[in-house]
Amino acid sequence: MGSGQTVAVFGAYGHTGRFVVAELVERGFVPVLSGRDADQLKALAHERGLEARAATVHDPEALERALAGAAAVINCAGPFASTAAPVIEAALRAKVPYLDVAAEIEANIDTFAHFAGRARREGAVIVPAMAFFGGLGDLLITAAMGDWTEADEAHIAYGLSSWHPTAGTRRSGAVSRERRGERRMRYVGGRWEYRADAPPTMEWDFPAPMGPQPVIGEFTMADVVTVPSHLPISDVTTYMTAAAVRDIAAPDTPA
Ligand SMILES: NC(=O)c1ccc[n+]([C@@H]2O[C@H](COP(=O)([O-])OP(=O)(O)OC[C@H]3O[C@@H](n4cnc5c(N)ncnc54)[C@H](OP(=O)(O)O)[C@@H]3O)[C@@H](O)[C@H]2O)c1
Repeated sequence: MGSGQTVAVFGAYGHTGRFVVAELVERGFVPVLSGRDADQLKALAHERGLEARAATVHDPEALERALAGAAAVINCAGPFASTAAPVIEAALRAKVPYLDVAAEIEANIDTFAHFAGRARREGAVIVPAMAFFGGLGDLLITAAMGDWTEADEAHIAYGLSSWHPTAGTRRSGAVSRERRGERRMRYVGGRWEYRADAPPTMEWDFPAPMGPQPVIGEFTMADVVTVPSHLPISDVTTYMTAAAVRDIAAPDTPA
């Protein structure tokens, strides 16, 4: 680490973008700040002594300029239904790795469906959902698999004591719900299934200090896309503490 390489961060002035920028600096990379609001970018660039390159997803040339000379791009701008494909296209043109933090199941599925084949053919690196939801669970399951080549089931339970969503998380959730209708999704028997019934409720015994907690079963998160994308596991299920589900469902939960 400490390579001094430039990394473009799209959505740099959002809540997550700012963490990513800080972490890159901490690790010796030089973030280039990008996103659609030139004023917010300029303010952050001034604050951190970094370069800003404004770009919208509707302007491929501006995205190319944002990625010029970068060793990789990290997309933190959600809803990813709007941002993932144009930023991936720009990364493919620039021949640099693309990572995002998308926790939007439909956008994650789209990224694999539309770009996995092309990435393989072009030798490109495209990594969606490389974050808490989607990334961490995938790494844990991969580590737990060890030398197993397949498994029947994987279960990932999120022990969140609360969940105060940002505006971006709320907007991304709304986009996913629009695309899915009133249905929920789960991954069973090696395929996606839409269901209209209520998800199961149960208790999960988390390690201390949380201990046993009520959880909502089949509270489907991005790991359910990332894990089966590379591991032969036919049933992947994610669970969320009921307290966090109540928070995210309530319109008046603070940001
Ligand atoms: N997988 C995970 O564990 C994980 C972790 C953190 C975040 N996330 C996801 O990351 C996304 C951002 O979350 P956040 O907490 O950082 O939200 P946030 O603070 O609201 O930031 C969202 C950012 O995205 C930008 N943006 C939105 N739509 C855009 C578009 N069409 N073009 C360009 N920029 C756009 C916003 O810019 P404007 O202000 O100009 O709208 C803002 O900079 C959400 O989808 C969230 O669910 C996932």
